[in-house]
Amino acid sequence: MRARRLLGAATLATLGAALWWRKNPSACPYGQRFWVEAPHPIITRERLREVLRPEPGERILEIGPGVGYYTLDMAEWVGPEGKVEIFDLQQEFLDHTMGRATERGLANVVPTQGDATALSYEDDSMDAVVLTAVLGEIPDPVAALREIARVLEPSGRLIVGELFGDPHFTTQAALKRQASEAGLSWESHSGNWFAYFARLSPN
Ligand SMILES: C[S@@+](CC[C@H](N)C(=O)[O-])C[C@H]1O[C@@H](n2cnc3c(N)ncnc32)[C@H](O)[C@@H]1O
Repeated sequence: MRARRLLGAATLATLGAALWWRKNPSACPYGQRFWVEAPHPIITRERLREVLRPEPGERILEIGPGVGYYTLDMAEWVGPEGKVEIFDLQQEFLDHTMGRATERGLANVVPTQGDATALSYEDDSMDAVVLTAVLGEIPDPVAALREIARVLEPSGRLIVGELFGDPHFTTQAALKRQASEAGLSWESHSGNWFAYFARLSPN
């Protein structure tokens, strides 16, 4: 009986915390990085490659790389003549990813610390922007999407990855609404309603 009550209280506390987190967008703390180190089902690196269609020599901006789950592969896809710019609010995540890039012998990953709502890159300077499990952590996602639209080349593409279970999961309907407000058009998506990569482009 006591164990049941304890389990009930723990479940309620977990649900409460998840609900609070959902209503209060904030960056995943570096101390909880085990969440982003785990395999990302459905939104796999192979699926990202199919949706992104990277070319050697391209300059790709990844916002919120976490521990670099996708970064290292992207750096290999664009090759030594290309570049992956990683941009994160938290320096610890950038340092972590840079350490892994160095271990793998990659010299084309460039870190910059900052907030996604104020990107420190020039207009029309990126071939592609990628963000996975990041948008819902940003208190003003439309402002971040506007910044992304600004730095993307007119022929560039934005790939947004989302996975249900993340307390900050962004549904496709919400992403479509936010993207249209920010001047981005929905092109296609791969996956299903609870785990997907969406491909968008500047209007
Ligand atoms: C849940 S992790 C996702 C990591 C990685 N993309 C992945 O899928 O494994 C979210 C990442 O976004 C970063 N982030 C959150 N809010 C941000 C903001 N406003 N500007 C830049 N980065 C942000 C966090 O610091 C963290 O690295």
